[in-house]
Amino acid sequence: MIYLLGGSGYVGHAYQALLTRKGIPFRNLRRADIDYTIPEVLTTALKADRPELLINAAGYTGKPNVDACELHKTDCLFGNGVLPGRIAEACTAAGVPWGHVSSGCIFTGSRADGSGFTESDAPNFTFRQNNCSFYSGTKALGEEILVGAPNVYVWRLRIPFNEVDSPRNYLTKLMRYSRLLEAANSISQLEEFVEATFACWEKRVPFGTYNVTNPGHVTTRQVVELIKASGVSKKEFSFFASEDEFMHVAAKTPRSNCVMDSSKLASVGIQLTPVEDAVAAALRNWRQAAA
Ligand SMILES: NC(=O)c1ccc[n+]([C@@H]2O[C@H](COP(=O)([O-])OP(=O)(O)OC[C@H]3O[C@@H](n4cnc5c(N)ncnc54)[C@H](OP(=O)(O)O)[C@@H]3O)[C@@H](O)[C@H]2O)c1
Repeated sequence: MIYLLGGSGYVGHAYQALLTRKGIPFRNLRRADIDYTIPEVLTTALKADRPELLINAAGYTGKPNVDACELHKTDCLFGNGVLPGRIAEACTAAGVPWGHVSSGCIFTGSRADGSGFTESDAPNFTFRQNNCSFYSGTKALGEEILVGAPNVYVWRLRIPFNEVDSPRNYLTKLMRYSRLLEAANSISQLEEFVEATFACWEKRVPFGTYNVTNPGHVTTRQVVELIKASGVSKKEFSFFASEDEFMHVAAKTPRSNCVMDSSKLASVGIQLTPVEDAVAAALRNWRQAAA
């Protein structure tokens, strides 16, 4: 049996669908039912149920975007920076291995040679650099707090997308924003992300940090071209002239745009679809969410 925290959220729903499809029993813990943010409460539950794995898909994401985290700093710091440490405490006490959904947004840019950041690179979009959004800073703290924690996977998700029209889907966001920021990013197809992370456990790959992004990276303009070619949107897309203009007009806090290297995951035998193919497939199968 698997424990799922944050199963009520966007990423958590994808885990619920995966585990249901695989016929794997799981318990979806919701704070409203059991306050898993209190280590003693979580430890007691873990010792009673003895799940073989806990998946933490809980955290604080600003809605509709990271700007909202600037207004809700306490919840954001607690959900992203403190909660992972508390889960580590409970899982260690109960002897339960676990996986934490982190984020690639703790990086900005790419390596000097243009290649993607690997798991051995130190995050460069954090409170320590004093250059980040509050959200990214708290996600970096969440990873920092897990350094040295035993039996934990840290899975870095980055800008999720899939074929289902949703305000949380990157492709929908691009189609709905009135103007776009040109940037290069590595991104994660949501269902491939949850499958790949669960495969880490099924295949018993070594614990540690994994960048779980579709291989390669895309620019905003490339994705827009794929949207136009698919016929999903016929809109005339317009772009900000520069990041300065974007920050001035549309944003309250800096965005992480970054290129990630996912070859560590590939090296343990877990392959995601190359990013352009994954975006094209999502657009080919584009559909409205079920009512
Ligand atoms: N969506 C993205 O673009 C994205 C990208 C990269 C990484 N991530 C990470 O993936 C994780 C899940 O994101 P999501 O988009 O699925 O978020 P979401 O839709 O907001 O769901 C998160 C869930 O976390 C639980 N939670 C526990 N403590 C919380 C707190 N202090 N504040 C708010 N919610 C809390 C809530 O479940 P209950 O109340 O039912 O317990 C909530 O439903 C987060 O750690 C996020 O940083 C997301």
